[in-house]
Amino acid sequence: MTTEIETRERLAPGPASSSVLWEYAPSLESTDHVKIASRYNLFIGGKFVEPHSKKWFPTLNPATEEHLSEIAEADAEDVDRAVKEARRAYDKVWRKISASERAKYIFRIARLIQEKSRALAVAETMNGGKPIKESRDVDIPLAAAHFFYYAGWADKLEYAFPNRNVAPVGVAGQIIPWNFPLLMAAWKIAPALAAGNTVVLKPAETTSITALMLADILQEADLPPGVVNILTGAGATGAALVSHDGVDKIAFTGSTDVGKRIQRALAGTEKKLTLELGGKAPNIVFEDAPIDQAVEGIINGIYFNQGHVCCAGSRLFVQESVAEPVIRKLRDRIGTLRVGNPLDKNTDVGAINSRAQLEKIQELVASGVEEGAEMFQSSCSLPARGYWFAPTFFTGVSQSSRISQEEIFGPVLSVLTFRTPEEALEKANNTPYGLSAGIWTEKGSRILKMASKLRAGVIWANTYNKFDPTSPFGGYKESGFGREGGRHGLGPYVVLS
Ligand code: NAI
Ligand code: MG
Repeated sequence: MTTEIETRERLAPGPASSSVLWEYAPSLESTDHVKIASRYNLFIGGKFVEPHSKKWFPTLNPATEEHLSEIAEADAEDVDRAVKEARRAYDKVWRKISASERAKYIFRIARLIQEKSRALAVAETMNGGKPIKESRDVDIPLAAAHFFYYAGWADKLEYAFPNRNVAPVGVAGQIIPWNFPLLMAAWKIAPALAAGNTVVLKPAETTSITALMLADILQEADLPPGVVNILTGAGATGAALVSHDGVDKIAFTGSTDVGKRIQRALAGTEKKLTLELGGKAPNIVFEDAPIDQAVEGIINGIYFNQGHVCCAGSRLFVQESVAEPVIRKLRDRIGTLRVGNPLDKNTDVGAINSRAQLEKIQELVASGVEEGAEMFQSSCSLPARGYWFAPTFFTGVSQSSRISQEEIFGPVLSVLTFRTPEEALEKANNTPYGLSAGIWTEKGSRILKMASKLRAGVIWANTYNKFDPTSPFGGYKESGFGREGGRHGLGPYVVLS
């Protein structure tokens, strides 16, 4: 049984200390049950069709740089085809069938994701570089949970918006990033379908495979052709979707740069827009916090998914009186993170998603060193091939430095200190972003007070990076606007009267 975790272990040589890294025998998830096609076409009108451009681009495994498949590149003609199919499906089928019938399809999609969860998890890890324990235990189960959750709303929209008439928006264009490929597809598609919209989805160019496996699932679920169309390609494909006249709504998750560009492109049009952009979240540790728990939370907040998380706790604020033990424990703990083959069930930190992202991380880390911050890096050995970055944190970071202002989107933490809660608040809010925050303290009243003054859409207390389909997610300021998840997540996909 491949799900069985190998527990044979031996003590690594070297002096015993709190930071001994136990070496485990490899426990690799098998890949032979996953069928990755040698080439993928576009999913338009319920069928896989060749791209008008007749162009395909390679996609690889970032942990090994091995070629995995070829992905079709959709051009403006393909976007036009897909939007027309989505419109036809909207007018002729999806808006006409009953809400409970819509729910039936969404429930089917949820169940099929569960049935195929093992293959989806392995494909997600192979194409994205994230550890199998995350794709298996976080990404794929949450993707299924989002479809289940919104399937339940489909025939209850009048309860979501009491005393209002609820109508769908129409055709939604959805553009998603590479950090949680299938999960972001689920976040976008599930509420859109539940509210009666049809969809043209564009996955990120480095991680298209699970979205195309989802296309197979949509066929198997008998979803009426055209209700969801999946167009692969890079920025130009996304831009063509944004500017297509037949699209009523754009939902985007990705960089603040592209988000701003999309906002400009849509200014003065009737199209609705939601943006979920970057973050530079403060994770605030008070002196009364349970320190060991907080250290685990800090680790999970920034090294989870290689820090490829828009809500990553990338700025640690620790109260001065406990800074020394917290930093010491952090240093010990990053030394015990297992970095390596993402298909190994023991791996904690996998591969960086792409060469471009690795270069961005390297450049920002170099700027931190140059600006005089002190760097601590795990001395783990990194695989020779693929894109890797060792878990890192900086102390002595100034608030104005690039590493405390700019989103690094990698396993890199900036540590700052504070004396009073007021100072913590002021420093935490000193950012153009406002997506999420963490608070660690025993005092309930302090949690509530801080939460009411932090300018962040999502706030965790004594935990970090917990997600649930019932809970709305979204930001303030340059982190974007609109909410995904929960009842709020239906809002962008309905017109109320
Ligand atoms: P990106 O914003 O370029 O890519 C996200 C998606 O937008 C992809 O599907 C991409 O093909 C598409 N896209 C790119 N240009 C477009 C355009 N002009 N019009 C429409 N769609 C377009 O993000 P990128 O370059 O991959 O990453 C850069 C940085 O963005 C990261 O280092 C990170 O800081 C941030 N980021 C934030 C994410 C989040 O979850 N909020 C996710 C991914 C990246
Ligand atoms: Mg980009």
